[in-house]
Formats: sequence, C-alpha cells, structure tokens
Amino acid sequence: MPPIVHGEKKDEPDCEKNGTDLINGSANKQTFDTAEDARKDDFLRGVFQIILKKGINDAFNRKNKVVEFKHPEDLAASLDLGLPENGDSNKKLLQLCEDTVRYSVKTGHPRFFNQLYGGQDLFALAGSLLTENLNASMYTYEVAPVFTLMEEVVFKKLRDIVGYETGDGIFCPGGSVSNMYGLNMARYHKYPHVKEEGIHALPKFCIFTSEQCHYSLKKGVALLGMGTNCIRPVQCTDKNKMDAQKLEEMILQARAEGVEPLMVNATGGTTVMGAYDPLEEIADICEKYGIWMHADCCWGGGALMSKKHRSLLKGVERADSIAWNLHKLMGIPMQCCAFLTKHEGLLKKCHSAYAEYLFQPDKFYDVSYDTGDKSIQCGRKNDVFKFWLMWRAHGSRGLERNIDHVFEMSGYLRERIIAHPGYKLVQEDPECTNVCFWYLPPRLREQPETEEWWTEVGKVAPVVKKRMIFAGSMMITYNPMGSKVNFFRFVLANPASTTEDMDFIIAEIDRLGNDL
Ligand SMILES: Cc1ncc(COP(=O)(O)O)c(C=O)c1O
Repeated sequence: MPPIVHGEKKDEPDCEKNGTDLINGSANKQTFDTAEDARKDDFLRGVFQIILKKGINDAFNRKNKVVEFKHPEDLAASLDLGLPENGDSNKKLLQLCEDTVRYSVKTGHPRFFNQLYGGQDLFALAGSLLTENLNASMYTYEVAPVFTLMEEVVFKKLRDIVGYETGDGIFCPGGSVSNMYGLNMARYHKYPHVKEEGIHALPKFCIFTSEQCHYSLKKGVALLGMGTNCIRPVQCTDKNKMDAQKLEEMILQARAEGVEPLMVNATGGTTVMGAYDPLEEIADICEKYGIWMHADCCWGGGALMSKKHRSLLKGVERADSIAWNLHKLMGIPMQCCAFLTKHEGLLKKCHSAYAEYLFQPDKFYDVSYDTGDKSIQCGRKNDVFKFWLMWRAHGSRGLERNIDHVFEMSGYLRERIIAHPGYKLVQEDPECTNVCFWYLPPRLREQPETEEWWTEVGKVAPVVKKRMIFAGSMMITYNPMGSKVNFFRFVLANPASTTEDMDFIIAEIDRLGNDL
C-alpha cells in the first residue's frame, strides 16, 4: 500500500474546493467561510484517510504486525509528545496521528488474542465516530432525544434476550462499575435506609463469590465501604465453577455467626478459564435464603445471543441483576457495558439525587424519559448508538453468527492443541472461548511431571511472550493461577479470526519456543 501523503501541496487549502454528496455520490462545490474552516476540513479528511488506510486496511492485514513494540524510553524518544505554545500545522498533526497509529497495538488484527475483546466491527466504528461527533450526554431527553429512545429499545431487547419480563437497565463505564451497581443495589434492596444513613447503620453482612471471580468485586466492596473482608470466596470444582454445595454450607455458617448473607455473585464466563458458574443451582440457593443474586456475565454474556450456546447461562433470568460487557464477546467498541436488573424502578430509587437544575419535574415533555438519575454519574457517555447501528447492520442473526464463529474457532484450536505433542491443555473442556494451555518445548516433552519439570514449564511462556511481542506476529497473554505455573490464555472475540489463524498460533509458538 503506498504511503499516505497529506498536506504536502499546501497547508492551508482554498476556501472553495470539491466535495462529494456522501449519500448520493455526486460531486458538489464546497465553500468555506474562512481559511481556518477549510484547513479543518482538510485535516479531517486526512484523519479519515489515516483511519481507512492505516487504522483499518493495514491494521487488520495479517501480513502486518499486531504491535511494533518499543520500551517506554525508546518510544518516548520516537514520538513527539510535548504540548506546544502554538498549534501545529495540518501536516505535522497528521504525522502525529500516523505515529500514534503506528505504535499502538492493533487490537482489531485477527491475531490479537491478548484481552477479552478484539476485532473491530466497521459499522460499530462508524457509530462511535458519529457518537463523538454528536457528543451528547445521556442524562436528559432534552440533550439526547434520539439516544434516549435507542437506549429504551436496546434495553428492552436485552431484557428479552436474558428472559426478564420486566426491569430496568443502564449503560455503565465498564464491567467493574457494573458489578459495583450490583453490590449497591443488593445492599439498597435489603437496607434502603443505607442511602441516607450510610454503612454505620447496617448490621454485619457478607458477600459470596467464587474464588475465580473477577477482581472488580474486591474493588467494588472496598469503594462502597463494605470492606474486602466481607467477601467470602467460595471454592470451585475441578471445572473451575463455583461449588454450589459449598456455597450453601458457607451461607449457613455465616448465619450461624450472625453475619447476614447479602449477595451471591455468580460468574457467567470467568476471566481466565472461561467457566460458567451453575446459575440455576445458585438461583435456587439465593431464592431459598432470600439473597440477592448478581450475575457477572461481563465476559461470557455474549453466549446469550446464540441458540447453540445460551444454555451455558441457563438460569440467568433468575438473577436480580446482571453485568454484561457488550464490548467483550459481542465485539462492540470499548466501551459498552449493560447493567440489567429485573427490579423495575429500583435503579432510580437507589441512585437518584433529584438535582433540580437538571431534572426539573415541570419540563414541557414527559420527564420519565430523563433517565440520568438512575445512574451514579451525572454526564454519561452515549454507549448505545454504536451498538444499535451494529445491530441494525447485522441483525440478531448476524450477531449470533459472530458468537457461533468465535466459539467454533476456539473449539478448533482446542482440537489442534490436543493433537500436538508440544501442547497441554490446562482444562480439557473449556466453556467460553478461553483455551488455556502450556507449551512444551521438545526437551520437556514426554517427561515425568515432577516439581522440577513444572518449574521449567513455568519459565516457557514469559520468554515466548517476549519473543512474540518483538516479532509482532500475534498477542496472547499468560498467567499463573493458584498452584498452576504460567500458562497461555487464548481468548477470542474477533469474528474475523479463522482456522488459518488458529493454525498459525500452534506453528508460531512452536517456532518461537522450541529451543527453550
Ligand atoms: C468476568 C469479568 N467481570 C468483570 C470484568 C471487568 O470489566 P471491565 O474491564 O469492563 O471493568 C471483567 C474484565 O475482564 C471480567 O472478565
């Protein structure tokens, strides 16, 4: 692809230039009031060109690197990051934009498997661009009329998919915050006076969650003044799922100690192993003891879109609240995270502050459409439009196909791993698109699995990862877990990744690590 050349003819274009009617495709003459207006137009066209060529075409091309890594000092020296007294020219600004793209990780690349998100849907990207352009805050219908209605439609649809007959929802800045909403709602539901009187007015309570839950639960209880000691981690089975029998025993134990069980957090797709807690059994227990059930489906919630895979979340409709990161498995650009609850009206009761400068009750329109007081925020980003536009572009069936595809690809990788003598699965039958595995260089194959052997195995992944990053060929993360030494955690959210990419992983790790 030829390099992008911009701003070279002249930095400040004429006030009159040719433009295109975008919808009808016809050329038209565009005029600008000032040279500055023309300059901004020229600049934006340059940026869009960079997005199309560098940020999309080049960035998603398998022939190109996922990352061009430099250590922080070297990167700082390669970039011009200072903030000048006087503004830069278009030419300089566009160069800065290109440098930014160059050294950023190409998370839309089909070989980026590092995090619980990846890929880039171009319709959703278009929605993001327009969202930034329209810059509406979601607190009132007054400033976000279209998006408020869109949220209503989307939340109704999400509730239908979950199986909630009624309820409410709000977009949150991420799953960690969504889980915090769950904690706060659980507490308010049981002790409504907490809103005015605070934690000092509450009896001692505790929260149950699997030992493999996301760390955001810990952060949430700390921030909400519940204290991290209120979390009682429930042991997992050998399938990495919360042991429901243990949960019930622990609830009885807490009660015997005079500690009130407040909430059970069940995970629908754990961060590392991709395990789905037994939601139906947990719901039975929560119902029996009158405990708020929160389902953290931040990672694995996307399975709900698929007829083939939604049974992984059987029982989710019985949860009092659900956190669902649409920006993970569903591939919406960051960030897009829905918090859903079956309790109609409770979100607002729990969080409202009735600010009279913003939520005037005597406005000229139906103020029930001013949804902002349900949120813990004031200004709130519009996260709905990109999601809505992507949905319109693909339809529910298209979204379902994406989910089925990423599950199919991770299943394919798992089979390849089983068939290869240099790879060993951490868990035989992963549930979400996580495939966790050890790579064994030839010298460690067919050896007795002694303590020393495991120590050696644990040294492999960090070295392979370093080589992988400097090669720029792909990105997969690794971590230890409990007594398990460092292993690779493959995850897939990008529907553009193919069996060819899965084959590449097997060959590339072997290439990078077979001398270790
Ligand atoms: C299961 C689970 N819950 C919650 C979160 C937190 O989501 P966020 O990163 O959007 O705060 C994650 C993040 O990976 C997760 O895997």
